[in-house]
Amino acid sequence: MNLDVPGIDTLELEGKRVLIRVDFNVPLRPEEDGRLRISDDTRIRRALPTIQRVLEAGGKPILLTHLGRPKGEVKPELRLDPVALRLAELLGGNVLKVDECSGETARQAIEGAAPSTTVLLENIRFHPGETKGDPELVERLAELGDLFINDAFGTSHRDHASVAGLGRLLPSVAGELLLAELEAFRRVLEDPARPLVAILGGAKVSDKLTVIDNLLDQVDSILVGGGMAYTFLKARGESIGNSLVQDDQLELVRAAEQKAMAKGVKLLLPTDHVVADRFDAEAETRITTEIPDGWMALDIGPQTRAAYCAEIAGAQTVVWNGPMGVFELEPFKAGTEAVGRAVADCPGYCVVGGGDSVAAVEQFELAKSIDHISTGGGASLELLEGRELPGIAALRS
Ligand code: 3PG
Repeated sequence: MNLDVPGIDTLELEGKRVLIRVDFNVPLRPEEDGRLRISDDTRIRRALPTIQRVLEAGGKPILLTHLGRPKGEVKPELRLDPVALRLAELLGGNVLKVDECSGETARQAIEGAAPSTTVLLENIRFHPGETKGDPELVERLAELGDLFINDAFGTSHRDHASVAGLGRLLPSVAGELLLAELEAFRRVLEDPARPLVAILGGAKVSDKLTVIDNLLDQVDSILVGGGMAYTFLKARGESIGNSLVQDDQLELVRAAEQKAMAKGVKLLLPTDHVVADRFDAEAETRITTEIPDGWMALDIGPQTRAAYCAEIAGAQTVVWNGPMGVFELEPFKAGTEAVGRAVADCPGYCVVGGGDSVAAVEQFELAKSIDHISTGGGASLELLEGRELPGIAALRS
């Protein structure tokens, strides 16, 4: 995997129309007045440095993004108007939102935009060619700009027209956000300070087995939590009651354990659990080292918390993806909170990626103490799997 990409310094921006692919796929919530409001604007804020650099250098930023999955159709609720409003507030400058994402209307709007205006084109996924990487759409988009900056780390695992397609066709570089993300993952994946500890959680072990397989070549220890831990425990022959399990993954999980042993990697599993008689915040709960029949484990127990936190405290590099339990429900949040606090307190370099662990970091108000919080869920997982992301490879073509 190659994480080297050219940055903005290598481009002459003055007087240029600069197409910037951003990832403004932000969560929207309907308010009482019926209007949609953005409930987390992190992805917009993190794109500001690139936009500001282009403006300061005398270039014209033309932003392309998707929002949701409209499947090639115009969906009024996925129009970018709320995004444009928030962007204008954050930039403190002019934002021109164009209701088309390509063609004559877009071209004229860009041409007529006053200097220092940031142009935001309509949701690119309203166009059916976007997700197919349609070369005709790539050509039409390329006509709107002289240069291309990819700053959409969260979408760089997609071989889509406005991500990899433009990267291959126009002179292109990585924006500030993308460079920061790649630098963070480089510190984990290329010659990390040791010990390197990976914390992996979440519901499905099938989503994480490729990550585990790749990380086993790099890490000193892996701490496993969340629903995925119970497939590991079942594979070891332990009783797991009604806990989440993927029986079709048992063989693969055993193979991962064997690989860990062969590589001398410590693979830690929960040794005690918070179990419940049902999946409910009001359920009856117990702390136990053996999961009784009819009960399900919904969080790691105190002994496991202590062991995982001690491992994290001694790390020089940490990467965390996936919660340790059902942290959204009060009785099952302690494991994820303890691990999150240990990551925040760890003096080593710590990276958090993946939607749920980022949500946990926010919930427990730990964001300020963590070195890097990734804006990409799927993209960060693919990097941890050791895969080349099409949107990044395109910048080298
Ligand atoms: C994300 O939110 O993970 C990115 O914006 C990619 O969105 P997608 O999974 O719909 O391609």
